[in-house]
Amino acid sequence: MSETNRQWRLAKRPKGMVKESDFELHEAPVPKPGAGEFLVRNRFLAFEPAMRGWMEDRDNYIPPVALGDVMRGATVGEVVESNLEGYAPGDLVSGMAGWQEWAIADGPLRKLEPGTDPTLALSVLGITGITAYFGLLDVGALKPDDVVVVSGAAGATGSVAGQIAKIKGCRVVGIAGGPEKCGWLTQDAHFDAAIDYKSENIGARLSELCPDGVDVFFDNVGGTALDAVLERLALRGRIVLCGSISRYNAEEPPPGPRFYSRLTMQRGRMEGFVVIDYLGRAAEAIAELAQWVDAGRVRWKVDVQKGFENAPSTLLRLYTGANFGKQLLEI
Ligand SMILES: NC(=O)c1ccc[n+]([C@@H]2O[C@H](COP(=O)([O-])OP(=O)(O)OC[C@H]3O[C@@H](n4cnc5c(N)ncnc54)[C@H](OP(=O)(O)O)[C@@H]3O)[C@@H](O)[C@H]2O)c1
Repeated sequence: MSETNRQWRLAKRPKGMVKESDFELHEAPVPKPGAGEFLVRNRFLAFEPAMRGWMEDRDNYIPPVALGDVMRGATVGEVVESNLEGYAPGDLVSGMAGWQEWAIADGPLRKLEPGTDPTLALSVLGITGITAYFGLLDVGALKPDDVVVVSGAAGATGSVAGQIAKIKGCRVVGIAGGPEKCGWLTQDAHFDAAIDYKSENIGARLSELCPDGVDVFFDNVGGTALDAVLERLALRGRIVLCGSISRYNAEEPPPGPRFYSRLTMQRGRMEGFVVIDYLGRAAEAIAELAQWVDAGRVRWKVDVQKGFENAPSTLLRLYTGANFGKQLLEI
């Protein structure tokens, strides 16, 4: 067993684009589990675009990470030593054990079924899939025959949302960056069409592809994509505000959407949501997603970087689009 517990701690509140130097590598002793606790060796870290917001000292849906604290993050790890009934060495557990090699837990880490693929548990059968499922079906109130547009479509959440819409009988257009991601959307992930926002005009392409307007927009990006869809919103269209990654690293909030008055004309609805409000119903989503994954109806991708020392640079990949699939790191 390694003598030290390497940890990435938050060193600075980011200004503009998050930087590797906003984190600092710290070495602490490997902790000993007390009564009712167990020791976990983390194996995988999962990265969320929302981490940029957790690093800021501002009002959010969860408290900010304190300066000097271990960076918050979802993990899968293996129990190494246990003083808690129900958890034995070798068990795989998942939860928010943070950017560190070792962690002490007293129960909030969820035990995974033996043989679970950790990368599946941290992507389509984890927070990512649950977000796509409830965001689209519950907040988006999806109906068969809806015309659905997804931004960040080749990403972890967007790709699952778009494929669920296809399973439900909708026509689905994805917006993503670059020919490789757009090709994957139409050839592998069953999307009807893809718009490469890096080389095409989103608005012009949406007018061609969705001549009667957009019924549901699952938005992960905000900015010009949101504006282009607002301008083309169908009657009683719904916009699901899942995320707005184009704004996360902006020093000042950019001006708001230009075409929001279309919501009035089209009796539309734009609604934000946070997946934690749906965790009580997670089993419902996971059961259905698992069937679709087994049947090959939902394709999923993970992007697994390696080496604990690379945690900060792995986070940065999300904001440049370097990741293709759920961004993970194998420690
Ligand atoms: N509401 C919730 O509860 C909840 C839960 C989970 C995730 N989310 C949100 O869901 C979204 C996707 O998260 P994810 O974990 O699935 O990540 P992801 O989509 O796998 O990765 C992020 C992707 O965003 C795109 N991107 C980055 N910067 C961009 C920019 N300036 N303009 C346009 N696109 C940009 C990149 O794809 P391209 O190469 O295509 O640009 C990148 O690959 C995020 O907005 C996240 O905050 C929300």
